[in-house]
Amino acid sequence: MLRTIKPLNNFKKSVSYLGLVFLLTGCVTGQLGKNNSGEYKNGMVVSAHPEASQVGVDILKKGGNAVDAAVAVQFALAVVYPNAGNIGGGGFMVYRGANGEINALDFREKAAAAASRNMYLDAAGNPIVDKSLYGHLAAGVPGSVDGMVEAHKKYGKLTWAQVLQPAIDLATNGFNITNRQAGELNSLHRKLMDFNPNGTALVNLEHPWRENDVLVQQELANTLKLIQQKGRAGFYEGAVADSVVAEMQRGKGLITKADLNNYHSAWRKPITGSYKGYKIITMPPTSSGGIALIQLLQSVEPYPLKKWGHNSDSTVQVIVEAERRVYADRATHLGDPDFYAVPQQQLLEAAYNKNRMANFNWAAATPSSTIMAGEIKGAEHEETTHFSIVDRNGNAVSITTTLNGSYGSLVAVKGAGFLLNNEMDDFSVKPGAPNMYGLVGGEANAIAPNKRMLSSMTPTIVEKEGKLFMVVGTPGGSTIITSVFQSIINVIDFGMSMQQAVAAKKFHHQWLPDEVYVEKDAIDSLAAQKLKAKGYSIVVKGPIGRVDAILRTKWGNYQGGADPRGDDKAVGW
Ligand code: GLY
Repeated sequence: MLRTIKPLNNFKKSVSYLGLVFLLTGCVTGQLGKNNSGEYKNGMVVSAHPEASQVGVDILKKGGNAVDAAVAVQFALAVVYPNAGNIGGGGFMVYRGANGEINALDFREKAAAAASRNMYLDAAGNPIVDKSLYGHLAAGVPGSVDGMVEAHKKYGKLTWAQVLQPAIDLATNGFNITNRQAGELNSLHRKLMDFNPNGTALVNLEHPWRENDVLVQQELANTLKLIQQKGRAGFYEGAVADSVVAEMQRGKGLITKADLNNYHSAWRKPITGSYKGYKIITMPPTSSGGIALIQLLQSVEPYPLKKWGHNSDSTVQVIVEAERRVYADRATHLGDPDFYAVPQQQLLEAAYNKNRMANFNWAAATPSSTIMAGEIKGAEHEETTHFSIVDRNGNAVSITTTLNGSYGSLVAVKGAGFLLNNEMDDFSVKPGAPNMYGLVGGEANAIAPNKRMLSSMTPTIVEKEGKLFMVVGTPGGSTIITSVFQSIINVIDFGMSMQQAVAAKKFHHQWLPDEVYVEKDAIDSLAAQKLKAKGYSIVVKGPIGRVDAILRTKWGNYQGGADPRGDDKAVGW
């Protein structure tokens, strides 16, 4: 079914419009090393909140490297962007050093030891939807603090105290909330009150939040100080651990002191693949994002997207058919590699992905009901947040981090001042039953004690001719993978600048439900009509993705891409 598609004459028009938006919104700022095209020489930070981007650049200016800045930004986002920035959630980091070294850190949450396969089902075996989404039982054991400790231990240059200090200052002194944040907090007022009867700094009891109100978070500041003084022990042991366990007892949650103590993030080998001569460096499982991204790129590589044009009917059709097949694979084959034998090698074979596209028919949409996962031989409320950082020496960090839903489980740990995630909903609660993103899964992603839930987060770094080319990622639940994919091809195939690629309208298909989600004006009415005639169901949705990315130009300067769908900002120097 086709709904409210407004014509957009041609790509040039959209590019010039986007250029204008870019200039007017002034998404990129900074002081030093800037050339006339708004590019920067010495480094750049792009994140979902202006205060956090500034924190990152200040750390770079102090002589910190990209990892120092990333740790500072992660903690700063926990203060200034509580809908997704976190210490009570988890995430993934992809790293590329200036010397070409690559690495990946999995600090995804884990199920508590007392978690069980059917914990969100009723007596008849049906999912109780809210149970995995809200409240104490929805939370996995948080991974972000351990992840930051590990990243800093391995690559950091400044002291741990230095990288924690900006977040402590922001929590202690407060910061001015944006108009968007005021609206979000007001709309959640009742729910936050219900889940936090003992109070939380996020609820304003005096009047509705307004733009520029100062949000002070004293309990969170105290927690950050403990982390600053004691490292991982400041969070996983002592007073903060006591507060988490007391919170669990109040709300009948599962996380124990042993769960906190036993949590450890994992260094993993990044997934690498190639697309039109570019090297893609991305996140392996526990995220599905990296495998799915490489599968998508391999599936569309044989087709002349550039000749067809950005979001033309042929381009959209091929991409949708690739997405349908890749998401079918995701549902069956991907899960925590520590618990399930993910057939990674086969899924990443070019011949496998070419073969998956072999039954695609130009004349008609392939119904998702006829597409199953490929046979393997032998074998957001969409709230997450992403930030991209490059330092003066060319070290690059791509981090996507999340509480899952906006403001996670809505439970703020009393006495410790941070929100707990609702990441348990990313497990397959029941095989075939959709989660909050409509994604289905099976055995590979079933709940088990101490297991990590499958993610779509896709922090990615792209190399060109052995040199850094792009740092990219986004929130958006199931749409993360397809938004990262489109941002990459927007630059490589359609010649857009980083800002244009990020701002360009996006579309998405995920096998089930069998619908093409499009942002308003993403495809013109003629293309939409042609696709509809072939059987594609096109549904206009709200904003897709919130990509924050950096592009290194051939002159070695950095271009920022800060998504105009949010308050995101690129700050360079
Ligand atoms: N919670 C969203 C994801 O990890 O994909």
